Amino acid sequence: KKVVLAYSGGLDTSIILKWLQTAYGCEVVTFTADLGQGEELEPARKKAELLGISPDNIYIEDLREEFVRDFVFPMFRANAVYEGLYLLGSSIARPLISKRLIEIAAETGADAIAHGATGKGNDQVRFELAAYALNPDIKVIAPWREWDLTSRTRLLDFAEKNQIPIAKDKRGEAPFSVDANLLHTSSEGKILEDPAVDAPDYVYQRTVNPEDAPDTPEFIEIGFERGDAVSINGEALSPATLLTRLNDYGRKHGIGRLDLVEGRFVGMKSRGIYETPGGAILLEAHRGIEQITLDRNAGHLKDQLMPQYAEMIYNGFWFSPEREMLQALIDKSQEHVTGTARVKLYKGLARTVGRWSDQSLYSEEHVTFEDDAGAYDQKDAAGFIKLNALRLRLNAMRARKAGK
Ligand code: ARG
Ligand code: SIN
Repeated sequence: KKVVLAYSGGLDTSIILKWLQTAYGCEVVTFTADLGQGEELEPARKKAELLGISPDNIYIEDLREEFVRDFVFPMFRANAVYEGLYLLGSSIARPLISKRLIEIAAETGADAIAHGATGKGNDQVRFELAAYALNPDIKVIAPWREWDLTSRTRLLDFAEKNQIPIAKDKRGEAPFSVDANLLHTSSEGKILEDPAVDAPDYVYQRTVNPEDAPDTPEFIEIGFERGDAVSINGEALSPATLLTRLNDYGRKHGIGRLDLVEGRFVGMKSRGIYETPGGAILLEAHRGIEQITLDRNAGHLKDQLMPQYAEMIYNGFWFSPEREMLQALIDKSQEHVTGTARVKLYKGLARTVGRWSDQSLYSEEHVTFEDDAGAYDQKDAAGFIKLNALRLRLNAMRARKAGK
């Protein structure tokens, strides 16, 4: 028996590794991806080796470009936000990890994959729905749903017995449940579990407090082509490089912080602290460029479908017919979404303050309060209003007759 484990090198997945070897007695292949979480990958290799994994069973890959190009950018074409606020930073990374787990299983002749998500959350659902969509016969091992290490204390005992080092955070405590990648960092658990209580500042990892951000605003110009960001201040950048730069701007100006209680797919509510510095800027700029290039009704339709699209991603249905159908519609809508947005960054906020495009639908000639030189005949509006009012007048007449 052989299993491919999504291995971060952290405490939980190291325990899982050991547990798979001992309780399951199977050969373990580890997969560690660089999704831009900002951690060195070599320590994960060393740890895997220490835990007895042979070098050719250790997979370490830089997936940053694929992550942004094929997952983050398609999602941002939709301006996707879950429950009005969450930019889906963890949700969108899971399908890519599962895709590689399945591919590595095929390459190494493994019949199972394993992950470190608990039985209470969304991530288990996302990993597994994606895996089954890509390989209907794959077996999934989710140790959190099976083992008897049901408390933090028992877990730490197991680690100690098996010589697995326990990392502490900078305050000497076991860390929050953190998930990070190029798009975001999320923190859950511990003191955050009381949603009535302010998150302490040390929870935030990749943005300065907006109150401490520079007192002078900064302006950047983001270029778009068919809905995807392609440049900053005129410099063409690859997807991952571009998002990395936006993260730097966002960090400096304290942009993209979110304190949210959300509805998990499994039914319970949970509270998380999210930081999406570059993503928050990107969303604002993308909406800025859509303002001038998207047809009004095309835009409204896409906005109506967005919550459903976001929910599909949140719930783990990235590889599903319904998500692909909506993606086709969204991609079609981006045909003319090309141009530049000028964004002001200042103390926690990104705001579009200018936008231009050679595909713009904005016509100053039509909209001007000055003399429009006959571009638009104001008399046309009278009939337009009259016919739109007909229905409303008939309703009003009926009400009057009824004495209301
Ligand atoms: N609640 C968020 C989501 O469902 C983040 C989950 C992140 N996972 C974690 N291990 N902290 O997308
Ligand atoms: C987990 O349960 O492993 C993290 C949180 C989530 O998946 O929602």
